[in-house]
Amino acid sequence: MLSGDVLQRFHVKRPLAKGGMGELWLADDEQHHDVVLKTVRDDLKDDDEVRRCFRREIAVTASVTHEHIVHHVAHGQVAGVEVLALEHITGASLAELLDRSALPLGAALCVAEDVARALAYLHSLKDVDGAALEVVHGDISPQNVVIDRFGQALLIDFGGATWRGADVTPGMLVGKPGYISPEQARGEPVDRRSDQFALGVVLWEMLVGRALFSNEDVRRDLPVPPLSQFVPVPYVIEAAVVRLLAHDREARFTSTEEAADVFAGAAWAHGVDDSRLWLAERAWQIAAELEALPAPVITSTSARTLR
Ligand SMILES: Nc1ncnc2c1ncn2[C@@H]1O[C@H](COP(=O)(O)OP(=O)(O)OP(=O)(O)O)[C@@H](O)[C@H]1O
Ligand SMILES: [Mg+2]
Repeated sequence: MLSGDVLQRFHVKRPLAKGGMGELWLADDEQHHDVVLKTVRDDLKDDDEVRRCFRREIAVTASVTHEHIVHHVAHGQVAGVEVLALEHITGASLAELLDRSALPLGAALCVAEDVARALAYLHSLKDVDGAALEVVHGDISPQNVVIDRFGQALLIDFGGATWRGADVTPGMLVGKPGYISPEQARGEPVDRRSDQFALGVVLWEMLVGRALFSNEDVRRDLPVPPLSQFVPVPYVIEAAVVRLLAHDREARFTSTEEAADVFAGAAWAHGVDDSRLWLAERAWQIAAELEALPAPVITSTSARTLR
């Protein structure tokens, strides 16, 4: 672990968010690079279970590198408090996008592909002996996906992560009630297919524009209404969502990469460039509203056009 000195170079600018477990601040360094500082919420700092989740989050975040996963910057202790520094993703969470509207099909497929690629990478990690680590994110939800200003989706928040041999309390419920798989809800061990189920719930919500399950209820016995009842979707996507949301995990995808490939194929048919642009503009607009960012600079050419 890095010493707390490494963190002294950051200056807190303002609070960013308070989640179920963490408290986050926006900070910058001497070169004015923005970072996010995350700690366990003050009211939970004496909860051993939460502190163990945060330690697992630090361990995973510090050991992974992927274009669709938030980058680790540093971690350490400051005055006895564990702190994780992450790159600041300028944009908006998928939850903030969904607060405004459903996503167009192409945009939803791009986000689903990005999240599936990040998950496929996590799910396929191996230890030094080449044995599968069986990493599971455990908390896939719209709050834990951030859309950046280029319209790319990045996975954040590894507080629910587990892997083979991790220090996890058996039967402990991680993840948000509205997104967890039936096996997670039953307190059974999770695996990569539990992340696939949560991704299916998120994709359903992106397309329909409302949550599939209530966040107060972990029951999964009600039938899932077919997507095509709400929005026109290609058959391959409807079939992929049915597979992701299968109660029996054996019926889900063998590899998460396979699901990513299905989304990618359908996304191409809907114009990836336009979809990325839609996502970038929407994320930027929300970030600007939330952070009162300065308006984009008008170049002399566009100023002429405006006159
Ligand atoms: N690196 C980042 N860049 C930009 N925004 C971020 C970043 N990390 C977190 N956020 C924002 O802060 C919110 C809360 O962060 P995070 O999910 O890490 O907290 P948490 O307490 O672990 O959440 P949960 O309620 O899911 O347990 C996110 O939903 C996102 O909007
Ligand atoms: Mg979160």
